[in-house]
Amino acid sequence: MRHTPAMLHVQDLSLTVPIKGKQVMAVDRISLTLEPGRVLGLVGESGCGKSITAQAMLRLGEYQGVLRSDGDILLDDQSLFSMPENELRKVRGGRVSMVFQEPMTALNPVFSIGSQITEVINLHLKMNKDDVQKRVIQLLQDVGMQDAESLLDQYPDTLSGGMRQRVLIAMAMAANPEYIIADEPTTALDVSVQKRIIQLLRSLQQQKNLSMLLVTHDFGLVAELADDVAVMYAGQVVESGTVEQIFDQPTHPYTRALMGCRPEVNKPGAALPVITGQVPSPGNWPTGCHFAERCPLADMMCQESVSLNAWSDEGHQARCVHVDVASPKPSVSDEATV
Ligand SMILES: Nc1ncnc2c1ncn2[C@@H]1O[C@H](COP(=O)(O)OP(=O)(O)OP(=O)(O)O)[C@@H](O)[C@H]1O
Ligand SMILES: [Mg+2]
Repeated sequence: MRHTPAMLHVQDLSLTVPIKGKQVMAVDRISLTLEPGRVLGLVGESGCGKSITAQAMLRLGEYQGVLRSDGDILLDDQSLFSMPENELRKVRGGRVSMVFQEPMTALNPVFSIGSQITEVINLHLKMNKDDVQKRVIQLLQDVGMQDAESLLDQYPDTLSGGMRQRVLIAMAMAANPEYIIADEPTTALDVSVQKRIIQLLRSLQQQKNLSMLLVTHDFGLVAELADDVAVMYAGQVVESGTVEQIFDQPTHPYTRALMGCRPEVNKPGAALPVITGQVPSPGNWPTGCHFAERCPLADMMCQESVSLNAWSDEGHQARCVHVDVASPKPSVSDEATV
């Protein structure tokens, strides 16, 4: 299949992880597309395979034994898996860059802020020393750091969590990337700082027409930032569509359940509903629908494998054989019982 150039496609990708000496499937034929200027929210509970998918987009998981068993990832129709290592190095942090959850592990504590951003620029752009210095200061200003010049010689441990995350975003922007992979970019931060980092990411994404993958377990964040959404459950995409489609008509029982857990749809102060049961881990997936054992609609039909387009409507897809298309948007109490 050919695609329009300048897109990053994950195509029927399967990944395995090492468990007790065996490679076990942890991502099952998932497809995602990052389009210019659009934010794709990849959402799902802990352990669903979001991070290993995100890392695969830079082939980073291989270092921890996360291997591709099927499918492909295409950047402008070129497979990342057949790309020579030297080209891959140019892509990483160059055309495609990443913002991690935990800024302290992504920043190197023994190098100054200035030298770490300088290194990214030197690796990817041809610039003279003075211009590099100006660019570093500009990048720090772009991410809202006051007094950028005095930061150059500081070390990461002298900064607050929010400032470190801003530095990490400056590093991710350093080589003018087209794609940003952001894995839970605000989870480690206080709520008020989270909001400012989200606003920063959104304004940079819009100004530079970036394409972004936003990995999160937080549907509220998806509503604020994403244009498109893929809901992941136990290694599979179970629902995908535009943010409007997913919020106007959440269709898969898992999506509905996740949406019902948002603080903003529940009474202030009330205990938040939780989805009973746990995500099955790799190696323990049921043969049919992966969500069946937690799903109130599950019956015999769900023991057969279900394809993502079991239900579809104008690009909105859901991996469920029990979708009642006529069902109204679920109420909070419906969701809370799932
Ligand atoms: N290097 C690894 N070796 C073995 N198992 C792994 C490895 N990396 C991930 N896994 C397993 O693969 C599954 C998916 O992990 P992943 O980190 O992608 O989940 P996630 O959706 O990002 O979860 P979270 O929201 O907690 O970050 C989990 O069961 C995890 O334990
Ligand atoms: Mg993760």
